[in-house]
Order: sequence, then structure tokens, then C-alpha cells
Amino acid sequence: MEDKSHARLTRDGIRIHEDQDFAGMRAAGEVAARILDEVAPLVVPGATTEELDRVITEKVEAAGAKSATIGYKGYQHASCISVNHVVCHGIPGPKTLKDGDILNIDVTVIVDGWFGDTSRMFVAGKLGRKAERLIQVTHDSLFKGIEAVRPGNTFGDIGHAIQAYVEAHRMSVVRDFCGHGLGRVFHAPPNVLHYGRPGTGPVLEEGMFFTIEPMVNLGRPETKVLADDWTAVTRDKSLSAQFEHSIGVTADGFEIFTLSPGGLFHPTWGG
Ligand code: MF3
Ligand code: CO
Ligand code: CO
Repeated sequence: MEDKSHARLTRDGIRIHEDQDFAGMRAAGEVAARILDEVAPLVVPGATTEELDRVITEKVEAAGAKSATIGYKGYQHASCISVNHVVCHGIPGPKTLKDGDILNIDVTVIVDGWFGDTSRMFVAGKLGRKAERLIQVTHDSLFKGIEAVRPGNTFGDIGHAIQAYVEAHRMSVVRDFCGHGLGRVFHAPPNVLHYGRPGTGPVLEEGMFFTIEPMVNLGRPETKVLADDWTAVTRDKSLSAQFEHSIGVTADGFEIFTLSPGGLFHPTWGG
């Protein structure tokens, strides 16, 4: 039988969602964002990333949601926690956080079949000057990308906005990982690159859902994957930061599905 409510795919294979699908994404995005709000006070020197992940696992369950990452390609955790020079896909473990460590926590939940995927930066203890600058530029680069989201613009416009902003601040955009379409699936077309040329790539249409999740390095952009075949780090050991929102394209712009209910998306907001 034809699936009328989810029938449209663009020629690039990008799903065009219906009005009512936005409500599903809103609910999923809010659960993911609220969980990150709730773990924020627990990110302190001496905490371990596996403790933070255990709390996240409990909160996913308490919300009546499902973790999208547990069981995904064999991954066993409800979050990825990427500390300092870890670019992404950091595996929660027994190492304790030290004063001044910066970390990205990335949570993806499934609520009524819809995926909410968001990550943001946290700091244990006192934020250092260089780390603060990196976090600010990474955060602001995400919003430069989001501001390029409207029907008629292209994915290249998003990537270009991010890249131009980051490079103007003499930092580098990671090329080896990208954002992705999502909705009733975790990872779908297109690849949302965080670099690119204006006017290139698929044209944005109302009803597209995707993440934007730039990773920015203080040093060079190259990454390598550790022997665990999972954790990605900067090759030059420089600090790396990332922020991620799940976004929908509306008639005249965008909707962010993963806004922080407590206004805590940026680590130095909210006191
Ligand atoms: N949430 C990550 C993303 O933004 C994916 C994590 S995959 C995992 O796409 F398996 F490592 F958890
Ligand atoms: Co993502
Ligand atoms: Co994510």
C-alpha cells in the first residue's frame, strides 16, 4: 500500500515531511535537549563519563523514550562523550574529568518513532581562554549555518556559511564527519557538509529534516580513528568542539527541534 503521509522523496533521495511530522520531531527533540539540560550540573571535575552516560540512560528511559545509539552498529551507550581533543564518537568510560576539560555530549532519542539528535559542549570546572574561544566560534558557526536554512537556498550555502565563519577565526572545520537527514530514521540523505561553495548541492525544500553538527578544531582539520575503531580524535592533538541541532525547513526558514528548554545550550549561559 502506498504510504501517503511520507510519499515524497526528492531526486536526491531527501524525504519531504508533512506538517504533522513537525510535531513528532518537536517532541523527540525536546526530550533529547531536556536530558542534556539535566546532566549539565553533573559535569564537574572528578565525574566520569560513564557515570554521565548512566544518568543519561536512566533519563531516556524515564522519559518513555528509546536510545537511538544503544545497539546502533554495535554501540552500547546512550551517549557519545568526546573530551578535549576527541572530535566525536567518544565512548563513555571510567576516566575522571579534570578541571578545565571541555566535552561534547551527544544524545539521540526515539520518541513515537521520531529521532531527536542534539549535542552541545560542557566544561568541567573553569573554562580556559582558548577553549572558551573555540566553543564560542563553534557555537556561532552552527547558527551561521542554521541562518542559511530556508527554501531555495542550498546545502552548499549552509556549509559555506559555517566554513567561512570558522576560517575567519583561524580555526578549522572537520571534513571527515557531517550532519545528516533524519526523521523516522537516524541517518538519511543528504550528507550535510560543514564546508562548501554557495549555490552548490541539493536545494532546500519545506519539510526537509536534518542535523547540522559542525566539529571545529583549534589546529588542523585532520582526524584519525583510535584502535577501538570508534573514537575520532584530532591528528595534531588540538582541542575540538561540536554543537548539533536537529532542524526542519519551514515555509520561510527553519525550526530548531532541539532547543534547550532551560536555555542551557551554550555552556556559559544560564549561570
Ligand atoms: N548522534 C551522533 C550523530 O550525530 C551519532 C552517534 S552514533 C553512535 O550522528 F553510535 F556513536 F552513537
Ligand atoms: Co547527528
Ligand atoms: Co548526534
